[in-house]
Amino acid sequence: MSEKEFTPAAGYAALTPLYDLSIGLLTREDIWRSALLKQVAPADADRVLDVGCGTGSLAIRIKLLSPKTEVHGIDPDSEILRRAHTKAAKKGADISFHQGFLAPKSVSELGRFTKVVSSLVFHQTPLVEKKNILNSITKILEPNGRLYVADYGLQRTALMKMLFRRTIQIIDGYDDTQPNAEGCLPKLMEEVGFINVSEVKVVPTITGSISIYVASMAG
Ligand SMILES: C[S@@+](CC[C@H](N)C(=O)[O-])C[C@H]1O[C@@H](n2cnc3c(N)ncnc32)[C@H](O)[C@@H]1O
Repeated sequence: MSEKEFTPAAGYAALTPLYDLSIGLLTREDIWRSALLKQVAPADADRVLDVGCGTGSLAIRIKLLSPKTEVHGIDPDSEILRRAHTKAAKKGADISFHQGFLAPKSVSELGRFTKVVSSLVFHQTPLVEKKNILNSITKILEPNGRLYVADYGLQRTALMKMLFRRTIQIIDGYDDTQPNAEGCLPKLMEEVGFINVSEVKVVPTITGSISIYVASMAG
């Protein structure tokens, strides 16, 4: 995969209009997004970046929960960002959306953040890109900054492995998704320098289990 390629939110660009509906139907969305939000606990002084923000579902929830928090979203897909803009405007959520891939140099354009969040992004990216994104996040976080991730993680049971195989791995392919299913994310977070990495919740769904991870930068 070159730097300019990415997997669209719903696996195929033509399915983008169905993305929000399918996430609502297939992932017990309200449970894991609420659990993630509880961990993020946005405060007035926070600057929060949503990496791979898609249609803005998470960024919007953060902004509505804490209206004084400065919230940004970044995503390489212009079509999904168009939808994010429209959705945020309808909900009255003032969010800055940026088109592109997060890179170590993004700090010069976006500044630093106290918290970075990301949901359902890593399982769609190649292993090397998972590490690149995490490495870029270390560059854009303030000292003591925190990372909050919700994504398909270690699939622990035969049932979860089977459901994941028959849904997400068909839509998004095996190569990008299997490292997540084998529990790669916390290890990668530690490899790029995060500390206090922990999986704080696992939500079983009909498409496999979604894990909530939190991690910190050293001060
Ligand atoms: C499954 S969607 C998740 C969207 C949103 N975060 C959510 O929770 O609904 C994955 C998103 O990641 C974006 N994406 C794909 N590859 C990426 C990359 N290398 N870096 C950042 N975002 C990426 C896609 O454009 C897509 O919008």
